[in-house]
This record gives sequence, structure tokens and C-alpha cells, in this order.
Amino acid sequence: MCGIVGYIGDKSALPVLMDGLKRLEYRGYDSAGVAYVNGGGMGIYKTMGRIRDLQGILPEPLPEARMGLGHTRWATHGAPSDRNAHPHAAGGVVVVHNGIIENYQQLKSRLQSEGHEFASDTDTEVIPQLISRYMKKGMPFEAAMRRAILDLKGSYALGIMSDQAPGKLFAVRNGSPLVVGFGEGEFFFASDIPAFLPYTKKFVFMEDGQMFTLSKGEARLELLGNGGGTPVKKPEAPGFKVVEIDWTAEMAEKEGYGHFMEKEIYEQPKTVMETMREWIDDPPGMLRALGITSRMILGWRRLHIAACGTSYHAALVGKYAIEALAHIPVDVEIASEFRYREQLIEKNSLFISITQSGETADTLAAQREAAKKGAFSLTLCNVVGSTASREADSVLYTRAGPEIGVASTKAFTAQMTALYLLAVALGTERGRLIAAEAQTLIGQLKKMPLLVEKALGSARRVEEVARSITDSSSMLYLGRGINYPIALEGALKLKEISYIHAEGYPAGEMKHGPIALIEKGLPVVVVIPMGSLFEKTLSNIEEVKARGGRVIAVTDEPASLRGRADETITVPPTHPVLSPFVNVIPLQLLAFHTGVLRSNDVDKPRNLAKSVTVE
Ligand code: AGP
Repeated sequence: MCGIVGYIGDKSALPVLMDGLKRLEYRGYDSAGVAYVNGGGMGIYKTMGRIRDLQGILPEPLPEARMGLGHTRWATHGAPSDRNAHPHAAGGVVVVHNGIIENYQQLKSRLQSEGHEFASDTDTEVIPQLISRYMKKGMPFEAAMRRAILDLKGSYALGIMSDQAPGKLFAVRNGSPLVVGFGEGEFFFASDIPAFLPYTKKFVFMEDGQMFTLSKGEARLELLGNGGGTPVKKPEAPGFKVVEIDWTAEMAEKEGYGHFMEKEIYEQPKTVMETMREWIDDPPGMLRALGITSRMILGWRRLHIAACGTSYHAALVGKYAIEALAHIPVDVEIASEFRYREQLIEKNSLFISITQSGETADTLAAQREAAKKGAFSLTLCNVVGSTASREADSVLYTRAGPEIGVASTKAFTAQMTALYLLAVALGTERGRLIAAEAQTLIGQLKKMPLLVEKALGSARRVEEVARSITDSSSMLYLGRGINYPIALEGALKLKEISYIHAEGYPAGEMKHGPIALIEKGLPVVVVIPMGSLFEKTLSNIEEVKARGGRVIAVTDEPASLRGRADETITVPPTHPVLSPFVNVIPLQLLAFHTGVLRSNDVDKPRNLAKSVTVE
């Protein structure tokens, strides 16, 4: 998904924009560009490739400019190329865009029939062309811009400027995230917070249908279509929500690690602790703070959770935990499926969305569908002020800090932490957990940061295993019960980081098909903690071995697997319902080390984006 940056103030704009783009690299991109406007006109530099390639085409010395736009492109319409890179311009108007203009073909045909010549294959280019069309009809630039935006259908976050309005920068949000940074006499805007964290911690999260006009010392906010607008002279002006982000720029840096993904894997003891800290000693109090009353809870017949990718796997763990501890049925769905089917949601039920970014299009749509049906919507989200957090009835924040690596790791264990807190709280409120049981679980949860730390101690062993699978073309991941979602998550991690095909499967389901895949040497990772399912899972290991498969066991009981598994990765023992915390760690490390051994771009894996803000 694309990244947008904009700057207006007293600094030289291009270095600030380039710095902002570098901090958005984690979003995944295939080309990049910057543009400036100064008293002498405008300049645009753009190229396919990386930020360093863009740096290489900038003139020396850099043109002096106090305002500009920047963009990293993740191609949706038009192949990655220099001509399709943003910014796009026409008639002295420059635009950068994140999202999809769904009616661009129709607009483009009409503009071409009126003689407009297009320089790219992108949907974005219709925007400056449309503005230029209205200017040709006699509208001044700003009126033409507002009018043109009304013609657009789809999702867009836009940065707009023109040599007809030097000293003014425009930020527009409709369906794709955009945050405005308030500095000292200067303004920034970006698709995500890390871009400008070194410059300011004060941000406004724009809402759909809003436009900011940013000029030196003044930010004017307006709703598109009603013109005029309310001048916002100071961030604290009434009716205006400025969020102070408590992240530091360093938190968004690698801090000595070679990759964000590795740093984030090793941050998990801390982020699990941070996520539980506020409510671990009073889970029922957390429900009150979320606006969830005993009467609401007693009225619920089932819970609904929707999410995507890794967040979906966290939701599955949450299902097992909530059903085990609170005895209330939990329906878990992939958000892109949930949003398009006939959702049978009872009025006043609880709908939970789980989303690290708070901007995933399918998850937001699912949340909106559930709200339409009258459900109470709670989002488990990692980004303060994100769309999910602003639209839900209530937010339970994970405290994982900025997750830069495209592969979600620390957010996953933070999501599980929040779900366990919820499970204990609901179990207590529903009288399913007596105080002693709740205290035992809370005591075990409090140990989790230490146990995750111990699980990280398997890294050297995992690296050895990674060397043995680096040339594999396919793998199976098996697990049972609450560790079945961990098998799914381990397989997803391996796929998205090493590009090796991997499939997660319930171990008990092997005989219903996948066992046909077992052949000599096929690596099969089996998550097999001691507990009620240990023997059953051991028999699955035997089935794999009998057909020549190579078993890599993740277990807290290595002695019982001697002579049974080919490789054993040991994790610390813990309460069975909490075992996903320790079992997922070696699987994250396995994906990371295998990706590095295969010389992949581990933080920005091919084809992937950090947050899928388009369908
Ligand atoms: C996880 O490693 C993936 N990058 C991806 O599946 C991700 O979990 C999914 O896109 C959901 O993102 P969200 O949590 O921000 O909604």
C-alpha cells in the first residue's frame, strides 16, 4: 500500500520529505517520488525502485523549497515504472495518492475525449487532470480542486499542491489513512505516524471527507463539499482532537538489530508486559472501562470476532481461550468473508475486530457491518487514533508500540494478551471462573513475559533448523486445540518471509487428506505441548515418520520425543491454555532465520504491505 508525505514550514522541504519516505519504507513499495513548489515554480523527481534510487536522481545542490509532497508507490493500477511513479501532475497541479479511484476509467475517457493527454497508466493521474479541466473552464485552482474531488469515487488519501497556490498544501482523506503532524510553525502529513515522529508527537487523525489547508502558521479544516471551513489556528482549538503519541522515534528505529522483524520478535517480553500492565490486576475493571456492563454480558448469547491474517489467528486463539474460560460461544471469521455474507448477528451482541494497524479495509468494513446490525463493537487495536479505534464503540489498545516489520510478531502476542485478559474478565463476570481460578490464571499470565524470554532462548537451535529447511519447497505445520491457530500462524510467517509454501493444519485432520503429501524428507513442524492432547499429537508424529516425513517438534517435553521427532525445539512449560505464547516464538524465529538465509528482504517481503488499506 502506498505511502504519502507532505511538508510545509521553514525547513528545506526535500530532505524532510526524503526522511519521511525512508520511515515509511516498511509499508512496501516499488517506486518513489518527491515534488516541490517554490517561488520559481515546481519540480518533480520520481523513479521506479528504492528510495536510494530516488536520492540518486535528485539535483545537487537540492532546490530550495519550503513545501512539497512525497510518495512511495505500491502498484495497483499500472505496472511499476518511472512514468507510473507518483507524484502526478497536470496544468501546474501536483498530486500524490494512496488508495483506488474506482471510477477512474470513466473519468479518464471523458478527459481524453476533451483532449487531455495522459502520461501514465495510473488511476491517480485523473486527479490533477480533472482539476486542470475545471481550471480550464475558468475556476480558480482551489475551487477547481474542491470540485474535482467531488467527482472521485473510491478510497483516497491525497496530497495536493499547485504553483497557482504557492504557500498552501492540501491534505484530503477519504477511506485511506492520513495523519497531520503539528510542529512549531510547520505542518506535516503522512500515511502513518512513524514518518514524522522525529519532528513532532502531536498528530490529528483525519476523518473521511475532510480536507486540511496547510499554510505557514495556519491549518484550516473543512468538510469537502461545504467549502469555507473552520480556520483552526491552534491545535487545541475546540472541536479539534490532537493526539499526543507516546512513541519515540527510536521505537520506530532498529536499535542495533539488523531487521525490524528481529527487533520486534525480541521486544515481545516487554510488549506482552505493557499490554497486560494496566488491567492484569483487575480484568473486570477493564470491562467497565470499556463500557461493558454486567447486564450487557448476561444478554450476550455469543461473541463475534473478525480479522485478517495474523490478527485472524490471534482471534482463533481468543476463541479457544474465551470458550474455555468464559463458556460463551465465539464465532471467528476472516473479515473479507464476514463482510460479504448474510451476517447473523443478534442485536446487542458483542462484535470484536482485531487489527494491528486499525486501517485494514476488510476489517473496517466488517466492523461497520456489525455496527449496522446493532452489535456493540470493540476493537483490539495497536494504533491510537486509527480508523478502527475511532469508529468502534470501544477500544482495547494493545501496547506493542510501532510494528514496522511487515510480518506481524509482537502485535500477535499483544493481541493474545488482550484476549486472555478479556477471557478472564468475561469468565469472572459470568461466574464461570471462581476467584481462585482467576487468580491462578492471572498469576500464570504475569509470568508470561519471562516465559516468552525463555522461549526466545531457543533462537540458536532454531537457526540450525532453519539451515536444514532453507532449500525446502513445501512444509506442513500441525497443531491441536488452542495450538492449531499457532500452526496456522507459523505457516503464514514462513510463507510471507521465506516464500516457501507452508500449510497449517489441525493435526487430527491429517488422515483426511494432507497425509497424502507426506513423502521422504518433507519437513513437518508439530506443535506438541505436554497436556491432554499430547498422546494424540504423538500418534500424528508417528504417522508422519512412518511415511518418511521429517518431524520438527516444538515442545516443553523434549524427553518424551527422543527417538520420535527428528528435531526438537524446546520451550518452557506453562498453563495449557497459555501455551500459544511460548509455542509461537520459535515459529516466528524459524521464519525470520529462514528468510535471512534465503537472502529475502525480511522487513519488506515481496508483494506484501504492512497494512492492506484497499480491498
Ligand atoms: C501478518 O504477518 C501479515 N502481515 C498480515 O496477515 C496482517 O496480519 C493482516 O494484514 C492484518 O493486518 P491488521 O492486523 O493491521 O489488520
